Amino acid sequence: MVSKRSGTLEEIQENSSERHIMTLSILGAGNIGSALAGHFAKKSIPISIANSRGPASLEPLCKKLGSNIKAVELAEALQADMVILALPFSAVALLTDKTDWAGRIVIDATNAIDFPAFTPTDLGGKLSSEVVAELLPGARVVKAFNTLPAVVLGGIPEEAAGRRVIFLSGDDAEGRAAVGAVIESLGFAPIDLGNLAAGRSQQFGEPLVMRNLLLQA
Ligand SMILES: NC(=O)c1ccc[n+]([C@@H]2O[C@H](COP(=O)([O-])OP(=O)(O)OC[C@H]3O[C@@H](n4cnc5c(N)ncnc54)[C@H](OP(=O)(O)O)[C@@H]3O)[C@@H](O)[C@H]2O)c1
Repeated sequence: MVSKRSGTLEEIQENSSERHIMTLSILGAGNIGSALAGHFAKKSIPISIANSRGPASLEPLCKKLGSNIKAVELAEALQADMVILALPFSAVALLTDKTDWAGRIVIDATNAIDFPAFTPTDLGGKLSSEVVAELLPGARVVKAFNTLPAVVLGGIPEEAAGRRVIFLSGDDAEGRAAVGAVIESLGFAPIDLGNLAAGRSQQFGEPLVMRNLLLQA
């Protein structure tokens, strides 16, 4: 399991009393999944990646990004300690019974959007991440990486003027700390908004979406 200590991803892993290396995976290898995989590759942080079509379909991406990015079957990716959801919001419901979600940290990068209107899906007053948390029972859901367009997210996180901001929110403080450490390790500046309800402003249709901000040193 993930250490209770906070810090960078490396510190969390090195301080872990169980000496357990936290495993990471990305579900989805489209715009957002590929952008994130690129950052893990640049920082030489091993991560697995999966889609619904199997590892062979991801060979070109993995070849381009290098050996730290490993294409796996969806079932294997679902076993990681920290799972990043980079797939359509509607696909999250398909994952409910695919693994035991209890205690697992899930980074929810999805947005619930109606196409082609490009408007927020009516979820009966619930936040999309609250719906995700209901769909993945026991998971420690942290919303992150959902506010920037993929082309911006995939760009350089550290500029001369500062580090690009990634907002996060979630009901589990330890989960938020672990996700913040991952965000730091990729070179971004995490801003922790608090619990899911407090993170409403980072949900699709709310003010923090599309805000490309730099945190000055
Ligand atoms: N694009 C953006 O700028 C942006 C920005 C912020 C947030 N988001 C959100 O991020 C999420 C992903 O967006 P995207 O633009 O990256 O979408 P995308 O390019 O369409 O990629 C979606 C990925 O999910 C995979 N996938 C679909 N159903 C799956 C399933 N049941 N199991 C496993 N993998 C599945 C797809 O691969 P296969 O079909 O081969 O399985 C594909 O690799 C969405 O919720 C979106 O709202 C997007």
